[in-house]
This record gives sequence, C-alpha cells and structure tokens, in this order.
Amino acid sequence: MKKLSLKLGLLFFLILFGLETFMFFFLHSTLVESRVEEELIALQTRGNSHRAILERHFDENTISHVALMESEANTDVVITNRRKEILGSSVKNSLIKGYIENATSSVPREGQTIVDKWQEEKFIVTVSPIEQDGKQIGFVYMFQDTAWIQSLISRLNEQFLFAGFIAVIFTITIIIFLSKALAKPLVKMKEATSQISKGDFSVSLPKTGDDELGDLAQSIQLLANDLSYLKEERSEFLSSISHELRTPLTYIKGYADIVQKRNLSAEERNQYLTIILEETNRLSEMVKNLFDLAKIDKNTFDIKKTPIDLQDFTRKITAKFTPAFIENGMKLEVKCSDAIFLHADAARLEQIIFNLLDNSLKYSSPGDKTYVAVEKHKRQVVIRVKDTGKGIPEQELPYVFNRFYRVDKSRTRALGGTGLGLAIVKELVHAHGGTISVKSTENKGTEFKMVFKGDID
Ligand SMILES: Nc1ncnc2c1ncn2[C@@H]1O[C@H](COP(=O)(O)OP(=O)(O)OP(=O)(O)O)[C@@H](O)[C@H]1O
Ligand SMILES: [Mg+2]
Repeated sequence: MKKLSLKLGLLFFLILFGLETFMFFFLHSTLVESRVEEELIALQTRGNSHRAILERHFDENTISHVALMESEANTDVVITNRRKEILGSSVKNSLIKGYIENATSSVPREGQTIVDKWQEEKFIVTVSPIEQDGKQIGFVYMFQDTAWIQSLISRLNEQFLFAGFIAVIFTITIIIFLSKALAKPLVKMKEATSQISKGDFSVSLPKTGDDELGDLAQSIQLLANDLSYLKEERSEFLSSISHELRTPLTYIKGYADIVQKRNLSAEERNQYLTIILEETNRLSEMVKNLFDLAKIDKNTFDIKKTPIDLQDFTRKITAKFTPAFIENGMKLEVKCSDAIFLHADAARLEQIIFNLLDNSLKYSSPGDKTYVAVEKHKRQVVIRVKDTGKGIPEQELPYVFNRFYRVDKSRTRALGGTGLGLAIVKELVHAHGGTISVKSTENKGTEFKMVFKGDID
C-alpha cells in the first residue's frame, strides 16, 4: 500500500510543485516589473509637471520653490541649466552629481529614464528637458531612492513566501488524500486476488464507480463468483460421480460374490451373470459419456462442420430408429419437407437426435408416438423432437439438463439411464452455436426444440 500511494503522491507533488513554482516565479517577476515601471512613470510625470512650471517661470524663486516642494516628498529633484550646472536641488547627496554628469544631453521632450536598475543603483532617475522658444535651457532631474522600492519588493517576497508555504502545505495535504483514495481500491483488489489465489473465493469488492478501476473490481468479483460456482459444481459433480459409480459396482460385487460362493443352478447363474453384464455395460456407457463431457469441457471436442442435407439426414434417422420403436409398440414419424441444409458435425448431430429419441423410447409406453420435425424459419433451422410419453413434472423441468439428473431415479435406473444424455445434448447444441429448450406436460408428452442459426441455402 505504501509503495503505490507513495509513488503516486511523489509524482503528483513533483508535478504540482513544479507548476506552482513556475507560476509563483512568473507572477512575482511580472508584479515587480510592473511596480517598478509604475514608479518610473510616476517619477517622470512628476518631473514633467515641474518642468511645465519652470518653463513658464525659469527664475531663482520658482526653482527654489520647486526644490522646497520636493524636499517634503519621498522623491528628490535637481534642476540644472543647459550645461548641467545645478541651479536648485532638494537633496544634498553628492552621489547625484555622478548621475547628472553621466546623463546624455539630448533628451526628448517627453523626458527619459536615465537609471532604472533598482537592484544595483541607489536611485532610479528620470530627466525632463526645460525648453523655451524651442531651445533647451535646462533639465529637471528626478530621483527616487531605491531603498524604498527594495523594501517594497522584500515585503512582496515575504508575502509570496508565505503564500508559497501555504500552497505547498495545501498541495501535500491534498496529495496525501488523493493518492490514498486512488491506491485504496487497487490495494483492496490486490488483497482480493491473493485471497482468490489461496482458494478462498468469498471476496467482496465494493463498487467504486463506473471508471476503469470500478470495471476491474467488478471483473475480479465476477471471476471470484465464477470460480466459487465452479468449485461448488465440481465437488457436487464429483460426489455424484462417486455415487453413480458406487451403485453398479455394488451390484457387480454382490452378484459376483453370489456366483462365486453359492452352488447355483445353471439358470440362476446365468441370470446373475446377465445382471453383472448389464451393470458393466452401464458403467462403460457412463464412463464413455463422462469422457465426452470432459472433452467438451476442455474444449478439445472436435466439431467438424460440413453442410448437411437434413432431408437425407432425417431419412437415415428414420431407417435406424423405426425398428426400435416398432419393437416397443410405438410409432416414429419424421418430417422434413423442404430441402434444408445445416452447417454441422454429422456425427454429433446424430448423437443429439439419438439421445433425444432414446429418451422418447425409454419414457413412453406402447401406443405412444414420437415426431421429429425439421423446419426453416427465416435463417434459422428448427428441429423438434416431440413425444406423447409420460412427460416431465413442471418442477423438474429446469434440472433435466443437469448432469446425473433423473426424474424418477428408481425407474430410470431400471431403464439403464445415467442422467448424462441431456447434459451431453445441451453441450453439443451449444457447441454448434444453437439453443435448446424443453416443454412438457405430465402424462401428455414432451417436446425438445432446438434452434440453429446460420443455415446455408
Ligand atoms: N422424452 C422424455 N419424456 C419424459 N421424461 C424425460 C424425457 N427425456 C428426459 N426425461 C427425464 O429427464 C431425465 C434426464 O434425461 P437424460 O437423457 O439426461 O438421462 P437418462 O435418459 O436418465 O440417462 P442417459 O440418457 O444418460 O442414458 C431422465 O431421467 C427422465 O426422467
Ligand atoms: Mg437419456
């Protein structure tokens, strides 16, 4: 947990901190620049307004008046003649002389900034020319002490530092919460998967939302549920198998014991051996069926689809099954009036029909009828196997496709059923991309309906 949230947190922090630093730096330099610019403009404007007065009255009295006015302000003024000789000044600082001497003599009417390097110099300085009759007669130099600007900037720096500190604290707090919130569902999912890998499928992941993380959590939950269902089904299946195998084995062992130990008449001996043979057949049939199902489960079941002419197919079915039906005093009617083709595995399709007809034979009485009808609806092929046999009670219907499920255990046993026939049929139909459903009324009959798609013309 720590690792992921730490990584996320660090990444967020670096990005946000970088952004904040850049923005603060940008804001700071823009603010300082514009502040200094304002000061320079104000200084220049003040100089220009002194110049305007002096242009009107360029005499000693006005000059000393202007100088006196400035001595009260936090700026200073120096008034010189054309040759830069000082006529009046509000400041006694000898440093200003240097500035005046270094200044150029060609000054535009609107004035000029002479010194603007507030970080290095003691003053920022502007100059405005005094003109009379189109001729320059002197200059007004304005001085602003940079200590004032520097203290202003340092106050600004302090405020920026404070704001930056608050922003960093705020960022860190948000990041801690955010990275934890992001990492939490991931950590939960990791715990869930390791729980699953240990064989405990009872995980419950809360739904976090419909984003990718939520989808992932849902998939893991689904996986756990499926695995849990499979585990349950497997153990149920194994217990059914052992139960189903035990019964015939008990018979075989019992009768074999009798045949071996007792002095039996030839007739009795024959009878018992027949039972042993029947049970052995049942066992091998069951093992064969189970093997088929296992192959389907493992997807190693080969379905070799070829176009099957269903008219031809039903003809063969009729020929194969009619004798068995006649022998049991029943009737079989097969109908496929149109030329219908289906892409399917011929052997598997026969296995499907065989299992269904075998059931109709087993669960009907003499005099009953069985119909097989093949029809085409739009692009679907529908095959129905319908009988007038004993039917299946409604409450049993949902289970008839389950493995080892038999409605009447004792009777079906006598008929040799293993309860795997319909399970195989269902898997085979699904392997062909089809669906199967059943309708039945007790003592009236049963109908299995299969729908296959994608027939070919
Ligand atoms: N046509 C039918 N009429 C009445 N009951 C049926 C019919 N088909 C299936 N059943 C009932 O459904 C149960 C399951 O059928 P399924 O074919 O899976 O097993 P089975 O016939 O008992 O054994 P197996 O087919 O493996 O030899 C049967 O035991 C029977 O009770
Ligand atoms: Mg059957």
